[in-house]
Amino acid sequence: MELKNKTAFITGGASGLGLATAQNFIAAGANVLLYDLNAEVLQQVAADLGERAAWHAGDVADETGVAEAIVVAQEKFGTIHINVNSAGIGGAARTVGKNGPMPLEKFEHIVRVNLIGTFNVLRLCAEVMQLNEPSTDDGERGVIINVASIAAFDGQTGQAGYAASKGGIVAMTLPIARDLSKRGIRVMTIAPGVFETPLLASAPDEVRDPLIAITQFPKRLGDPDEFAVQVAHIVTCGYLNGETIRLDAGIRMPAL
Ligand SMILES: NC(=O)c1ccc[n+]([C@@H]2O[C@H](COP(=O)([O-])OP(=O)(O)OC[C@H]3O[C@@H](n4cnc5c(N)ncnc54)[C@H](O)[C@@H]3O)[C@@H](O)[C@H]2O)c1
Repeated sequence: MELKNKTAFITGGASGLGLATAQNFIAAGANVLLYDLNAEVLQQVAADLGERAAWHAGDVADETGVAEAIVVAQEKFGTIHINVNSAGIGGAARTVGKNGPMPLEKFEHIVRVNLIGTFNVLRLCAEVMQLNEPSTDDGERGVIINVASIAAFDGQTGQAGYAASKGGIVAMTLPIARDLSKRGIRVMTIAPGVFETPLLASAPDEVRDPLIAITQFPKRLGDPDEFAVQVAHIVTCGYLNGETIRLDAGIRMPAL
């Protein structure tokens, strides 16, 4: 579907890859509902984006918060056509470390935000999308784009929880695409490599340089705008469905 005059529900929209996506969508004439944790930050980001941006603060894994945000999007823009699930957290810990086994709550928390949060948001957005008038001759009513990570494939030491959460997103992409096919909704996942979002932008060269060294080409971190371009391409290319795209300049992560 075209982006112009469509409405996107973007989680993690206050920062990094989600924010770059929101900026690109606004530039293409779409509306955005930003869903993220911090109301103050969201208010500022939405004000910078202008009239076609709305926001609601909450946790992706909270059913009520997401349902409220969907109502905000519907009241301001009518419906939701696109859902981008960029909210996510890291959290490195070895399965057994110096202080004993990885606390189970830590593993659970990462899976809860990244995997369960993604499913929670997309199922509630899809409920709304299925009621849309078709936007294309194919009968397309909605597009869902999840954000995994190359850790889904090349999880490093200390990434059991993160890799499990992102691997779950990759694994559920096809069955959800199958579930939603009769409703005219496509489902795709992007697995980013290493991007220049706030965390790494402020990291010292000792952290950045080894990562850049193991990318193939180009020899640099990913630009969030390149992620946003990939998201927009998935929205506009109607034949993409049920698949995960690595966006990573050919990087393959080593064990450590
Ligand atoms: N930046 C990278 O190099 C990279 C690489 C691979 C995957 N990713 C994935 O891309 C996504 C975006 O990453 P980013 O670099 O833009 O990170 P970021 O920290 O800049 O943005 C993530 C946003 O998600 C929000 N968030 C966290 N937990 C939340 C929750 N429970 N409910 C609602 N919002 C929540 C945060 O407040 C933040 O604004 C994440 O899922 C991350 O795992 C990023």
